[in-house]
Amino acid sequence: VVMVNASIDTPKLSKLEWVIRPTSDYSFEELAEIFNATRIDYIVPMPMNGRRMEDYVTDYDVDLENSIVVLDSEKQFAGMGMIAFRDKRAWLTRLGVVPHFRQHKLGHKIMGELVKRAFARAANHVQLEVIVGNEPAKRLFIKHGFMINRELAILNRPPATVTTYDANYLVTPLEGDDLYGCLNSRQYSTPSWIDEAPSLIKSNAIAGFKAVHQDGSTGWVVFRKSRFQLSHFAVDLPPTHSYMMLIALFSTLHRTYPSLDAKLENFPADTPELGALRKLGYIEVFRRIEMHLDLI
Ligand SMILES: CC(C)(COP(=O)(O)OP(=O)(O)OC[C@H]1O[C@@H](n2cnc3c(N)ncnc32)[C@H](O)[C@@H]1OP(=O)(O)O)[C@@H](O)C(=O)NCCC(=O)NCCS
Repeated sequence: VVMVNASIDTPKLSKLEWVIRPTSDYSFEELAEIFNATRIDYIVPMPMNGRRMEDYVTDYDVDLENSIVVLDSEKQFAGMGMIAFRDKRAWLTRLGVVPHFRQHKLGHKIMGELVKRAFARAANHVQLEVIVGNEPAKRLFIKHGFMINRELAILNRPPATVTTYDANYLVTPLEGDDLYGCLNSRQYSTPSWIDEAPSLIKSNAIAGFKAVHQDGSTGWVVFRKSRFQLSHFAVDLPPTHSYMMLIALFSTLHRTYPSLDAKLENFPADTPELGALRKLGYIEVFRRIEMHLDLI
């Protein structure tokens, strides 16, 4: 008989006295190693190394003093969970329990600790994302009172010839302060944690385009540009023009950078613009569910 989700080599209960340490006690290399150990069987492979962990902590304002690593009484790494703060909001991320230690309430313990720390920091709202299909984690979050907000799509686009074009929009590059001006005055879209202004402005390698229609309607896209990849997209489009304006903006964008891959995370899935992205060659890789918990 094949047992699904059965714990292999279940630790003896007497060993399960958890020791909680702040993540600030560890190097980024060690944190990446612990993270990887919790994700060896994850539905979407996302291996980390020290440098990527450091970028992640910086980009998303992870609080290393309030984020935690959990060890068992024999000092073996058992799990971790991170918390980030922006104003009165908290974001939970990188939660995981090493497979060997699962289903012994450690997930509950880590969630309880992180929510407690959000309270202690006077946050009034906690948010997180969970990949569609990750039922154990989704159930854990629902048990802790989290409610579903919306679905977000993660898409990739390999370099490809752009055939779309729309002459109804004047598309021009955004430069200097205009890039930050746009990010700081989003009008139409609700960003997820990873495409909010603070996530993007950590890097000076940002670029963008603005589209203007004859009727004066204006929209924009801002993204991060590395040697090989475009990533960290923020998009803001007036609802009456959103589909065609997205086509116009992204056609110019991909004509400008024809050899770069694009990685677009957390695009709202319940929108017609997702269809526009597909038309432009974007391929959906997976989806996340955004969840939230109000603390007051
Ligand atoms: C999700 C995860 C952290 C849960 O850790 P855990 O220590 O096994 O969780 P617990 O034993 O505390 O169980 C917590 C709740 O999760 C749910 N759960 C845990 N394992 C489950 C499973 N195999 N199937 C369904 N629900 C499960 C249950 O609701 C459980 O509550 P209950 O025991 O009161 O019924 C763990 O499975 C894990 O690390 N998974 C891989 C990484 C991951 O998915 N991280 C979250 C990314 S958003």
